[in-house]
Formats: sequence, C-alpha cells, structure tokens
Amino acid sequence: MDSKHNLFFALVSSFFFSLILLSGQKGALVSGHSHHHRRGHLFSFRPTKLFVFGDSYSDTGNNRKSEASSWKYPYGITFPGKPSGRFSDGRVLTDFLAKFVGVKTPVAYQWRKVVGLRHLKHGMNFAHGGTGVFNTLVSDPNMTAQINSFQWLFNEKTFTPWDLQSSVALVTVAGNDYAAYIYNNGTAEGFQPFMTSVVNQIYVNLKRIRDLGVKKIAVTALEPLGCLPRSTTITSFQQCNGTENSLVSFHNLLLQQAVAKLNNETTDSPFLILDLYDSFMTVFKNKGDESGTIKFENPLKPCCVGTSAESSCGSVDEKGAKKYTICEDPESAFFWDNSHPTQQGWRAVYSALQATLHKTPVKPVHNRRRGDQYREKLAQFYWVKDHNREVHSFPISRRLRASSKETSVQFRKCEDRDRDLNAIPRRASPGVRNPTVASLRPEGTVCESHLV
Ligand SMILES: *[C@@H]1O[C@H](CO)[C@@H](O)[C@H](O)[C@H]1NC(C)=O
Ligand SMILES: *[C@@H]1O[C@H](CO)[C@@H](O)[C@H](O)[C@H]1NC(C)=O
Ligand SMILES: *[C@@H]1O[C@H](CO)[C@@H](O)[C@H](O)[C@H]1NC(C)=O
Ligand SMILES: *[C@@H]1O[C@H](CO)[C@@H](O)[C@H](O)[C@H]1NC(C)=O
Repeated sequence: MDSKHNLFFALVSSFFFSLILLSGQKGALVSGHSHHHRRGHLFSFRPTKLFVFGDSYSDTGNNRKSEASSWKYPYGITFPGKPSGRFSDGRVLTDFLAKFVGVKTPVAYQWRKVVGLRHLKHGMNFAHGGTGVFNTLVSDPNMTAQINSFQWLFNEKTFTPWDLQSSVALVTVAGNDYAAYIYNNGTAEGFQPFMTSVVNQIYVNLKRIRDLGVKKIAVTALEPLGCLPRSTTITSFQQCNGTENSLVSFHNLLLQQAVAKLNNETTDSPFLILDLYDSFMTVFKNKGDESGTIKFENPLKPCCVGTSAESSCGSVDEKGAKKYTICEDPESAFFWDNSHPTQQGWRAVYSALQATLHKTPVKPVHNRRRGDQYREKLAQFYWVKDHNREVHSFPISRRLRASSKETSVQFRKCEDRDRDLNAIPRRASPGVRNPTVASLRPEGTVCESHLV
C-alpha cells in the first residue's frame, strides 16, 4: 500500500466506519462538587439549557435506528442498560457536560415531537454521528443544517431569546470531515488548505450560534486520532501514530486561533475549547484519572472488537451470531470500540477537563503554558515560510500574531519523529529551539510517511 492509501485506510476506518450517531436519555452521574460551586467558575449566569451540535462524540440518539450500530447491542449495556443511540457502552461527553452545566441531558432532536414540549426544557441535541462541518460520507445533516434546525425552532418560538440567554452550547468536531476528504481522494497539497477551510467553517458555525444568542459555547479540539484503536492495532495497542497526531495538532492550532479571534471580537469571551487532545493524552499517560480513582490497564486497548477485519463491535452474521467480543469489564477500558471512549473513558476525560472548566476568564491563546505545549508539539513538525520567502522554525507565539495570509505551513519529513511522538508527550522546555531546524527541507516537501 502506498502512503496515500495507508492514510486513507487509517482515517477512513477510524472515522467513516465507526464515528457515528446516537440517542437521548436522561443523563447523569458525574461526580463530587456541587453545581453551585461549578457554575460559579465558568458561568456568570445560571444555565438552564444545553444545545448540542456535532457528531458521534456528542450524539445521544439522532441517527436512524436502522442504520447506526449505536442502536445495536452491546452499545448502551452499562447505561442505560440497552442501546440508546450513544456510541459507547454508556454515557458520552454530552451527558457529562450537561451534569456540569446543571441540566439533564437534553433530548435528541429526532425525538422532540415524541416527548412533548415540557421535555424540551433542558435544551436539545442536534448532533448526528458521522457528520462534519461539511458533508461527509453519511447523509445525515452537517453542522450548518443542524444549526438551521436550531434556528428554525427559535424562529417558531419553541425556544425564546430568554432561553438562549441562559443557555450553553456544546460543539463537537471529531474528524469526519478529514475522513471524507481522504476517502474522496483529496490531494496531499490540498490537505492543509482543507484543514484551514474546516476550521474556518467551525468559526462561522460558532459565530452563528453566538449570534443567535447562546451565552457560552464550548467547542472540542480534535482528539489524538493517532491513538484511536484503529490506528494502534498495528502495534497491538502499544503506540500512537505520531504522524496522525501531528496533523491533529495543526487543526487544533488553527482552532485556537479561531477561538481567540472570536473571543477578541466579543466582550465577554463566550467561547472555550474543550481540549480533547490534551485530556485524552493525560488519561493515557496516567492510565486513568489523576487521582487514581479510575484505572485503565492499557488505555489504548478497546473493549468491544470485531472478530474479523470485516466485522466490528455489534456485528452479527445472518443467523444472528455475534461477530465481536467484549472485554470482561467495560469499566476497565478507555475505548469502547475503534473510535469511541467507554463511559468510564469519558468520565476520565471529563475529569481531566476540569481545569479548563474551572478556569476564568477563558482566553485560550493568551495562556502561556498552552502556547508552550503547542510549541513543543509543532516545532518539530512544521516550518513556516513568511512573505519574504524565508524559512523559519516554528516560533508559535510569533505565528499566532502573524496574519495567516503571510505564512504558510509545510509538512516536513517526519519518520524520525514518529518514535518521539508515539510516546506520550513530555512537557516543553520553553525557549529551547528545535535542534533539527537546520535539516528543514525545501518548500513543497511533504511529510513522507503521512500525507498523501
Ligand atoms: C501512521 O499513519 C500514517 C498515515 O495514516 C501511515 O502512513 C503510517 O504508516 C502510520 N505509521 C505507523 C507506524 O503505523
Ligand atoms: C450542508 O448540507 C447542505 C445539504 O446537503 C448543503 O447544501 C450545504 O452546502 C452543506 N454545508 C456545508 C457548509 O457544507
Ligand atoms: C479514489 O481513487 C480510487 C483509486 O484510484 C478509486 O477506485 C476510487 O473510485 C476513487 N474514489 C473517489 C471517491 O473518487
Ligand atoms: C483584538 O482586536 C483588536 C481590535 O479589533 C486588535 O487591535 C487586536 O490586535 C486584537 N487582538 C488579538 C489578540 O487578536
């Protein structure tokens, strides 16, 4: 297989075949601290509703039962005890965030007519598994269409301006746009511009949600795709794929810039990033949560897997015989299937996100430590060519100030770095220049082992 097809395979199988959809149950059960305490940090108001947009990381039941594996046994065995349309054995990010916000898990859009008006009081979940900001490989509504549905309900007064003023939004983008790009034979040269257009579209979507009146908006950074089981199976779930993770870091850098810009354009910094990259990595490094309450023996190893290359979690043959296996205790696994965390996995991620959730005010890009982290991740992988056509290493703070029109980021040869990156990232040593700068390659060089 050439590298294009490797990338294709890894990403498409990670996303297309498994990033999917899910259902609405009353969520719950997160942990300790009182709501009052929590709200006091992130919110200057008392949230009454949660609105959710995105993909399988947040969907709680919008995909069609006939199509989604999330509606098949053994999905949902831990909570609510049967398949609920969630892509996990139990609760997903939405349920944990709802608890934090202090509301019940909002109803899935597809059930809004079934449940009756009074069940809409906690907000609504418009997320569909498998979708992206652009059209992907599923026919479900993209994020623009999801926001259209939201706007429509607002216009017809299902939700009022007052509701929106006391509401919070969760927006997840877990990578389906990239799977679709690769599936559709997108070129290597086009990949970086495509990432930019994905983030630009996220920017437009976030702004739209804000302009409709939502008070606080949390958007996820991309999780470490190279650590999803589909990418690590080749190493028996021992090592993450560093080349894929470096692409993720680039997306996340662009997202930081977009969110900083949005916050700078508004008075009360309404946008925050839920950094799924750092929180997943923290859980992997700790093999659980920081307090040691949650433990995963090998956090990269999934619980529910197909018994052959063609089958996956939930597959059955014509006679209904299982074509998958489940681990003994889903609570001991971080990943449920090839792309999605278990309930316990999400709980650990949520625990790692606490620092972000309790931080005020939220201004991601001006956080020095955050900048250092990105410098560490990216300095080794990218070089920047400025408008004078001079090659620089990657001083990220400078790049953040630079207009994106003046700089272009190129991938460079990367196989040497795989080893480093595969290990859980170490802290940056601020100010230390990447020693390999001298070996940077000429413009147009593409990281050979990862991009098409
Ligand atoms: C990492 O991912 C890239 C892109 O999908 C692939 O080409 C490469 O072979 C992978 N590396 C390993 C060690 O699996
Ligand atoms: C979202 O989907 C609609 C319907 O397929 C399509 O017309 C529109 O262009 C899509 N929006 C984006 C941003 O891709
Ligand atoms: C992508 O390329 C492969 C191999 O050349 C081809 O079989 C496939 O049909 C193409 N897919 C699309 C969506 O163009
Ligand atoms: C914020 O916006 C102001 C005016 O619009 C601009 O001068 C300033 O450079 C911006 N700051 C950042 C960090 O983007």
